[in-house]
Amino acid sequence: MAKNPSFICNACGAAHTKWSGQCETCGSWNSITEEAPLSAGPTKKSLGSARGRNMELSDLSTHEDPPQRIPSGVGELDRVLGGGLVESSAILVGGDPGIGKSTLLLQAAARFARNGLDVIYVSGEEAAEQIRMRAARLKLSESPVRLAAETNLRDILTTLDKERPKLAIIDSIQTMWADNVDSAPGSVSQVRAASHELISFAKKRGTSVILVGHVTKEGQLAGPRVVEHMVDTVLYFEGERGHQFRILRAVKNRFGPADEIGVFEMTGRGLAEVTNPSALFLSDRDKPAPGSVVFAGIEGSRPMLSEIQALVAPSPHSQARRTVVGLDSQRLATILAVLEARCGVPFAGYDVYLNVAGGLRISEPAADLAVAAALLSAREDTPLPPESVVFGEISLSGAVRGVTQAENRLKEAAKLGFTTAIGPEQKKLAPVDGMTLRTMSDLTTFVGEMFGTGEDPG
Ligand code: TYD
Ligand code: MG
Repeated sequence: MAKNPSFICNACGAAHTKWSGQCETCGSWNSITEEAPLSAGPTKKSLGSARGRNMELSDLSTHEDPPQRIPSGVGELDRVLGGGLVESSAILVGGDPGIGKSTLLLQAAARFARNGLDVIYVSGEEAAEQIRMRAARLKLSESPVRLAAETNLRDILTTLDKERPKLAIIDSIQTMWADNVDSAPGSVSQVRAASHELISFAKKRGTSVILVGHVTKEGQLAGPRVVEHMVDTVLYFEGERGHQFRILRAVKNRFGPADEIGVFEMTGRGLAEVTNPSALFLSDRDKPAPGSVVFAGIEGSRPMLSEIQALVAPSPHSQARRTVVGLDSQRLATILAVLEARCGVPFAGYDVYLNVAGGLRISEPAADLAVAAALLSAREDTPLPPESVVFGEISLSGAVRGVTQAENRLKEAAKLGFTTAIGPEQKKLAPVDGMTLRTMSDLTTFVGEMFGTGEDPG
């Protein structure tokens, strides 16, 4: 009974005692593979010594300064890191294959190196010549980054220990291979062991490490769920194929705010920083159209405008479709239910498609009113007033609730030429030049004022 599980789900990292076609924990199919058993105690193969030593205990007071940060000079990257690279920290950069992780990190490595930081870039995916060709394309051939193409972890650790760089980039963690673990590179055991060794090295030797990890289709790193818990900072590099925008998102950061994003544009000469993302996300917008609403949002520490698009059409299917890109589908279901129950606007029998333009993903509840506005505008085939932005959280009772940083939202909208904001009543909100705020206390008022439809369901 006390046998160690030796089957591991590559999608979620759950351990099982026997193989099966579907993982009971996360529901993924064909993701379970046999692994070397997770040994409980020290074995012959363990790297640590069998007998532990006495730990040194200390109190909670600190005489040390806050962690020193080394900015890269790439503003969008430094923002996401919380101001720069922290010494001895471990960072995981995840993303789809081909999204631009290697490009981003080579550019970052070059900038760090130019600032005088000793950087080693280890690639397990590409030959040194390929990386040099990329560097030439990025006009970085002259930068003092040191390069190696290697997958053997023992050799990498030996070299790093000799060279003691301030930053080591490992591209990617799935290609690394620890010879004391009996499973194939890319398996959960290998990824876990390699990450553990590299992170321990970082903590002991004062080197920061950046681990690159590929994400599977399901949006999870293959295996590295386990790595997420081990590192200090987890960044995701996201974007849509066919779109040039790329978003670097902090999902965990021990040394800074999570939820901060950096915006880049993929160009023929690498990634360029986007310093005014609102303009970028609205750049493809035509004249005000039914179903299109500009949401005044906050991403991390800065305001950001984005376009929410809805399409509502009578459904030929017995079960109407709900398709959402860039927003939470549960949230859409809730807003549809509130529109129906509180405002008497039914969506049964209609297919609903909802999309955030430009590949942005929005998780703020403050987007509720903008979503409702897009749905209503599409359903009624009526555009919103021109030059208007929308924000506000909707409660189950149909009330429109105040949001944080309302003033920053209004200022950003004014900066981009918008003149009207439709949102909740905000306490203590100073007027913003050039902006009229049309306040809505509840969704029924909003429906009545904007579209002149909906009845009192009482
Ligand atoms: P890459 O950094 O290799 O992605 P990852 O490491 O995440 O797998 O990026 C590869 C893509 O980026 C490839 O499709 C080509 C494109 N690209 C550009 O558009 N411009 C450039 O300057 C570079 C270097 C790559
Ligand atoms: Mg790569």
